[in-house]
Amino acid sequence: MTKLCVTLTEQTPEAMLAAMRRLPAFVDMAEVRLDHIRKVRPCLSASDVERICQGKDRPIVVTNRPRREGGLNEGPEDARVESLRKAAALGAEYVDIELDSVGVLGEIRGGTQRIVSYHNFELTPPDLDNIHRNAVAVGADVVKVAVMARDIVDTLPIMALLRRHAASVPTIALSMGEEGLPTRLMGRKLGAFLVYACAEEGSEAAMGQVPCREMEHLYRFSQISAGTDIFGVVANPVAHSMSPVIHNAAFAEAGLDAVYLPFKVTEPRPFLEGYEPYDLKGLSVTIPHKEAMVPLMDEVDELTARVGALNTVVIRDGRRLGSNTDVAAALGVLESCAGRAGLLPLERCTVLLLGAGGAARAIAFGLSGRVAQMTIANRTLSRGRDLAAEVGASWCGLDEIANLRPDILVNTTSVGMYPRTDESPVPESMLRRGMVVFDAVYNPMETTLLQQAREAGCIAAAGLEWFIAQAAVQFETWTGLVAPRERMAQVVLERLSRK
Ligand code: ATR
Repeated sequence: MTKLCVTLTEQTPEAMLAAMRRLPAFVDMAEVRLDHIRKVRPCLSASDVERICQGKDRPIVVTNRPRREGGLNEGPEDARVESLRKAAALGAEYVDIELDSVGVLGEIRGGTQRIVSYHNFELTPPDLDNIHRNAVAVGADVVKVAVMARDIVDTLPIMALLRRHAASVPTIALSMGEEGLPTRLMGRKLGAFLVYACAEEGSEAAMGQVPCREMEHLYRFSQISAGTDIFGVVANPVAHSMSPVIHNAAFAEAGLDAVYLPFKVTEPRPFLEGYEPYDLKGLSVTIPHKEAMVPLMDEVDELTARVGALNTVVIRDGRRLGSNTDVAAALGVLESCAGRAGLLPLERCTVLLLGAGGAARAIAFGLSGRVAQMTIANRTLSRGRDLAAEVGASWCGLDEIANLRPDILVNTTSVGMYPRTDESPVPESMLRRGMVVFDAVYNPMETTLLQQAREAGCIAAAGLEWFIAQAAVQFETWTGLVAPRERMAQVVLERLSRK
């Protein structure tokens, strides 16, 4: 079973051992990067290696990476390789030796295994099989291939390498960089010998390493197996997406054998085609791919086709089904607010929708035909007019709204969003007791508009509610189960309050 190995980069043997003892019990192994110990530059002493090997509290990989392979060691090659020999003699379970230095290391005594490693910090070379073969040929006990992913499709040859070899030759294969993050979780599914993590945020030894607690508590690393279903969010950028937090918590709560990953995607088609053979079962889709995904589907529901944008993909029996849970979720939030305001049924309500971008489209199509009257106000008049024509609404400029008296006000413009949080898209005088005010902005959670609305006695709904609601409908679309909404809301609030 794939082990979790934390790379330690402390600068003294004592700090290295202390960091090892602080690692949680679910971390199977530690990689000791001798090249990070200060004394390596100029010279690491034998007693340093001895202290580490005698003080370790779990199996270790000893690595002393030279500058040319991305490490910090600038000393003579003989001394560098000698430190590995010493570690082996002192009982290190594994030593990591670069493919081009195996000859210098020669045979090692005792039960220590040799991880023969290849790194490329620039790109993913085309000849990974060849590299793997060469490492096997020089007697590797474990082969390691770590290469840079410049695009998510670069992770495909890494996963293919694991699929071909991991069952017969212990193999570590990973893509570095943000795009490569999925390989760190897929590694367990594909039977990699080990997967690296870092001890804490900020202590990454290689780009894209995930803190070990996040590996276990967010992604449930130890639960991933060959049969685990893969889900994820397709976005660019993806780093700050809350979707992995909310969906992994939902899968855990429901006891499903599934993991949800962040996919930083530039081209949706090769990504889809490449990942589908790895049990990809569902996707959340967000900026900038909501429109581009639609023609890649085998089927989309009627509303999604009309909106021209999707946020949810289900892959079932080899078919891609696209839908837009933003629409149903927005309707749900608005209906619940209108209920609290005593405004139901929605058919009696007038709506003022601010904005004409992607979020406005979802809401406009959701409400079209469901409310008494809708006005779309947008900064760029032509955009507002075009959307209004599509959904049968009225339109006007943002400077013409002050005298409107809608029952429901929805803001989808970015006015009030971080960092310009003191702005509001409407004059305060518009806000009346009993009105429903829904702000799609969710950074900050409580916008100026929402604060003013609550003070004026409006029923206010935050964009976060929409986010949670659309995620819940997504979960239900993928699994056919009732979404654990309370848990989903709880983890999002916890995560936001930590920031
Ligand atoms: P989203 O997918 O979140 O809706 P979008 O498609 O970029 O994002 O749409 C952003 C909306 O906010 C648009 O309606 C935009 O108005 P324009 O169509 O005139 O661009 C609106 N918006 C952005 N900044 C704004 C500002 N400073 N004042 C008013 N409206 C603004």
